[in-house]
Amino acid sequence: MREIVHLQAGQAGNQIGAKFWETISAEHEISANGVFDENKVIDQSTADVLQENVNVYFSEACGSRYVPRSIMLDLEPSVLDEIYSSSVGSLFKPDAAVRGTSGAGNNWAKGHYTEGAELIDQALDVARKEVEDCDCLQGFQFVHSIGGGTGSGMGTLLLSKLREEYPDRIMVSYPVFPSPKVSDVVVEPYNATLSVHQLIENADEVMVIDNEALHHICNKTLKVPNPTFSDLNNLVSSVMAGVTCCLRFPGQLNSDLRKLGVNLIPFPRLHFFQIGFAPLGSPASSAYRKVSVGDLTQQIFQASNMMAAADPRNGRYLTASALFRGQVSTKDVEDEMLKVQNKNSAYFVEWIPNNIKSSVCNIAPKIPQADLSATFIGNTTAMQDVFRRISDQFSVMFRRKAFLHWYTGEGMDEMEFTEAESNTNDLISEYQQYQDASAEEEGDYEDEDEM
Ligand code: GTP
Ligand code: MG
Repeated sequence: MREIVHLQAGQAGNQIGAKFWETISAEHEISANGVFDENKVIDQSTADVLQENVNVYFSEACGSRYVPRSIMLDLEPSVLDEIYSSSVGSLFKPDAAVRGTSGAGNNWAKGHYTEGAELIDQALDVARKEVEDCDCLQGFQFVHSIGGGTGSGMGTLLLSKLREEYPDRIMVSYPVFPSPKVSDVVVEPYNATLSVHQLIENADEVMVIDNEALHHICNKTLKVPNPTFSDLNNLVSSVMAGVTCCLRFPGQLNSDLRKLGVNLIPFPRLHFFQIGFAPLGSPASSAYRKVSVGDLTQQIFQASNMMAAADPRNGRYLTASALFRGQVSTKDVEDEMLKVQNKNSAYFVEWIPNNIKSSVCNIAPKIPQADLSATFIGNTTAMQDVFRRISDQFSVMFRRKAFLHWYTGEGMDEMEFTEAESNTNDLISEYQQYQDASAEEEGDYEDEDEM
């Protein structure tokens, strides 16, 4: 069995993480006390499918209880206390949490170098213990915001320490990118850029979650004018359940983290994915709709269904994969996917043939809006838009050295800001370079259409 160790850090990380565990427990019919609920499963073969890979995310404790292989960190205790007293609280091991007392006050330096550094050995011990209990660890998965202090600074510290200790395991991050539409902390572009620098160097696969896009989806698609974190997190948990579906249920495509990387990452630094979900609907606003494979295929390629604020029509896809869930035929999926590709071939680089993959998982998602869904993972050069947004916000402040004293006061060197800024800008240029590389050869192809 190829296990994943999940880590969640800071407020966003823990709130999203708790929702993720609630969602996947429900999909595997694991009840709030950790027991597999056979009564909810229609037949033995479904039960087998639900349980076959359950150990990827859950450990088995005595009394046939499934326990999330999850480590929860926060430099302030309140969010963790809330999770433990919530309806899913009893799922988690009491000693899975590592708590501080004061928080990192939206300061990356406090998370990475001072307050967070003090707790890092304790966090590493808990992580090591989980790894020792694994049969054959495939990798780690982090959920954390990158705009605050703890998830951002301490999250990336832990990521780099685990990377050092387990260099041949896959490191996945689900970072929440900040948006002024959702938060009003001015130093977020600093924290985010310092974290992006770390994620470029130390993560293998990054599933970008962007509050700017989540806010937009809530506003425009779900018609929720002032979304709460809970509204945003419902979107995230749907897409995370979709992205991890191949790992949790038996199938062929992207069945482990290494295969996913091999299929999707043509150049090692370009490992930031645009992830999407269809159909979109919130528990409050959605009524059940009948959707077809054709509808879903259309939707997952639309910018308005994607979790990062980067319109794929501003760039080109290097690679992509789509996973359809529920009772759908593989042939329908292949036909519809081929249609989209033929119609929009200008948006896929022609120098990676067969760069779009699809697969089907018969276990339907537990969402109120439909009994079919599709999840999208794309590696598009348009992702540079997200980095440019953050980098622009970073640069205007950094040019004047505004707010820098909060960071140097924790012992940080200004040099690290300069390095983070140039690493992000290099990444943007690399995306542009591959976008143009294909553009030069456009003349050789005649069948390119407008989207
Ligand atoms: P400190 O509190 O500074 O120690 O660090 P932290 O990691 O706890 O900070 P937090 O996660 O609150 O980071 C702030 C950023 O995360 C801001 O950009 C918020 O908009 C965003 N954020 C906080 N909570 C949530 C959440 O539940 N969901 C989403 N999507 N974003 C969140
Ligand atoms: Mg916090």
